[in-house]
Amino acid sequence: METPFVFGKIATEKNFTDREQETAVLVQSFTSLINTIIISPRRWGKSSLVNKAAKQAMQHDDRLRICHIDLFNVRNEEHFYSLLAQKVIAATSSKWEEAIENAKTFFSHLIPKISIGSDPANEVSIDFDWNEVKRSPDEILDLAEKIARTKNLKIVVCVDEFQNIAEFTDPDYFQKKLRSHWQQHQHVAYCLYGSKRHMMLEVFTDSSKPFYKFGNLMFLNKIETSCLMAFFSSRFADTGKNITAEASRLIADLTDNHPYYAQQLAQLSWLRTKDVCTVDIVREAHTALVQQLSLLFVTITETLTTQQLNYLKALLAGEKNISSADVMHRYQISSTTSIARSRVALVKNDVLDNQAGVYSFQDPIYAYWLKTQYFE
Ligand SMILES: Nc1ncnc2c1ncn2[C@@H]1O[C@H](COP(=O)(O)OP(=O)(O)OP(=O)(O)O)[C@@H](O)[C@H]1O
Ligand SMILES: [Mg+2]
Repeated sequence: METPFVFGKIATEKNFTDREQETAVLVQSFTSLINTIIISPRRWGKSSLVNKAAKQAMQHDDRLRICHIDLFNVRNEEHFYSLLAQKVIAATSSKWEEAIENAKTFFSHLIPKISIGSDPANEVSIDFDWNEVKRSPDEILDLAEKIARTKNLKIVVCVDEFQNIAEFTDPDYFQKKLRSHWQQHQHVAYCLYGSKRHMMLEVFTDSSKPFYKFGNLMFLNKIETSCLMAFFSSRFADTGKNITAEASRLIADLTDNHPYYAQQLAQLSWLRTKDVCTVDIVREAHTALVQQLSLLFVTITETLTTQQLNYLKALLAGEKNISSADVMHRYQISSTTSIARSRVALVKNDVLDNQAGVYSFQDPIYAYWLKTQYFE
């Protein structure tokens, strides 16, 4: 039997819950060509949300084309440009013959090198002579606008893991170049999203940076307990099983409403359930999940300094005023400078999330493991 939960893949259709308001806002932004920036920690559902809104928006508006670019393994400008050209052309062509035609007609200075995969269903791949692109990147940066105008289309370019452009050589210059082109586009909008909150915030909210005030900022939240409970219940019912309300609530609590972990724990609980999933089954599944991840957690913990661990211990104990002399003494934190340094490092390596000065664990299962196994 097919399992009813999905994690690590884009959540669609029945696997997607909640986010109604966010979906509506995004659909509206896409169809009205408003630039949008989405920020959330890893695995909270950015890609799933953009995917859902993109499909809905294209159903509403048959002139709208949406292309998706993922920068997760893109480390230089060269790669970025060829991906951008390729995806824009693919999204605006219905067959590969048209893609080749477009690649030929929409460039006048650059000469695209076109290759087609052995399987005709494959996308057409487009490359350029890098020295040429360096001299005139404009044609690629304005490609979407040019195609949209010529073909009477509206285009939204979605760029995932956008913070990666901060790792290109001379990122400020590159960002300036992007912004100066993109802000002139009338028929194209951009949806830029990523999971490194601190880097995304730096790119979009620092008034000295080129992308300052580029578009609407959307901070994604976790999924509400009531939505998760209804979701678990209906997914269990779809497969002829049941789950008690207490058990559903416990899954949400133990995963701190983290969308990915909520689905994973629900799945492990479902696998252990014959008829009705109870609180006991969820606890058993949770123990198995923590066990499964413990090796990974040991590896993460080995990279942390003693001062960082002391700080995390105080945070996990729920200490409200960590910088007070008493708390610092009890947890052997050497100074307030040490606290500040630990915070910066822990946010940078994604252990913590900083929401306007409130620090919380990005990974609820890691927090649980530290608290109940490592520090015990
Ligand atoms: N709306 C949703 N309803 C139910 N589950 C969801 C939803 N959004 C995300 N999830 C769960 O979270 C997982 C991660 O979602 P997704 O890949 O969209 O997140 P992301 O923020 O893009 O992650 P990453 O930072 O790794 O790119 C999904 O596989 C699914 O299990
Ligand atoms: Mg994603």
